[in-house]
Amino acid sequence: MAVEPLVLVEKGALTSEPPQSGPLVDRFGRHLEDLRVSLTDRCNFRCLYCMPEEGLPWMPDAQLLTFDEIERLIRLFVEIGVREVRLTGGEPTLRAGLPDLIARLGAIRGLESLSLTTNGFLLKHLSRPLAEAGLTRINVSLDTLVTEKFERITRRDALHRVLEGLEEIERYPSIWPIKVNAVAMRGFTEEEIIPFAELARRKPYHIRFIEFMPLDADGTWNNDQVLSGEEIRQVIHAWRPLVRLQDDTSSTSRNYVFEDGIGRIGFINPVSEPFCSTCNRIRLTADGQLRTCLFSVEDTSLMGLLRAGASNGDLERTIRSAVWRKELKHHINEGAFFVRPNRSMSQIGG
Ligand code: GTP
Ligand code: 5AD
Ligand code: SF4
Repeated sequence: MAVEPLVLVEKGALTSEPPQSGPLVDRFGRHLEDLRVSLTDRCNFRCLYCMPEEGLPWMPDAQLLTFDEIERLIRLFVEIGVREVRLTGGEPTLRAGLPDLIARLGAIRGLESLSLTTNGFLLKHLSRPLAEAGLTRINVSLDTLVTEKFERITRRDALHRVLEGLEEIERYPSIWPIKVNAVAMRGFTEEEIIPFAELARRKPYHIRFIEFMPLDADGTWNNDQVLSGEEIRQVIHAWRPLVRLQDDTSSTSRNYVFEDGIGRIGFINPVSEPFCSTCNRIRLTADGQLRTCLFSVEDTSLMGLLRAGASNGDLERTIRSAVWRKELKHHINEGAFFVRPNRSMSQIGG
């Protein structure tokens, strides 16, 4: 697998201090403008690569950030440079009152994009309240279009509900684009490639294949299970020519259209073509821990500070200092040098 060419220049030592004003930056000069906020670690699915059948030890409710705490933190993040917020889980639609939270966050001046990553199970009924609350973008996780395979991977017989949820969301044009994320796994995804490509021609969805990463709860990931984006792209291109789009510099995906389709196809290749050098993302877990990388091995507790009565100034200093020390990159392709994060994807927030 390819290792990313190192194009980042260290602009400050790990021990140096960050600027106390201006944009939120790390010591490599990356601007952190995209905050992912996990609302819960719980999920109503049990995807094989993510959660055991019995679930994981859930965070107690008292340990979750309240809506007031979430709003306060996001306001502060936006004041110091964050422009986009994505709400994730576990499964964020399980958090009671989600539309109310979206309406509150939507009112924050300076927040340019508010989006949701969901498994789609509850969208049939939630689409309207989400649209009315002001949600502007949505990403739906969907790994297969075959009923039996869907049940095998999620341990739930729910493909029809997710597809209905997608149809329902289409009725609300203020929520745009509708992205579909499929984790690509060797031995599972090959036969899904053309059906997903066909769906992206027929429907206005941006379908993106994500390379499988070592974030599985049971720790059984290995490199042989990764089906690379380039392999998938070649299969699709041989079937119908793909036309490359110009992507934003911080985009996780390389995106394409068909000459005769209405949707898009994208490839998120964190394993074969890491994009750490253009990463603009930080994460807040449901229990209020700031994580500066999907693969962080340590967190910074904002919850602890909040509940100890910290001022916004105290919080800002802690945030700037943690972000300054953001990891250079993940080490997935570096054998023994790779250290697994201490949380699974459902506890981090995708
Ligand atoms: P948009 O393109 O802005 O819609 O968002 P996105 O692609 O960043 O969001 P989404 O939640 O759909 O993320 C899709 C997947 O990309 C995640 O589930 C991860 O697998 C991968 N991804 C997102 N951010 C990172 C990151 O910082 N590092 C790595 N390695 N992978 C990431
Ligand atoms: N590798 C890549 N993507 C993953 N996701 C969950 N676990 C992994 C993994 N190990 C994806 C989900 C969803 C998003 C939140 O993260 O399928 O699209
Ligand atoms: Fe739930 Fe997402 Fe994990 Fe699947 S990948 S079990 S939908 S949190």
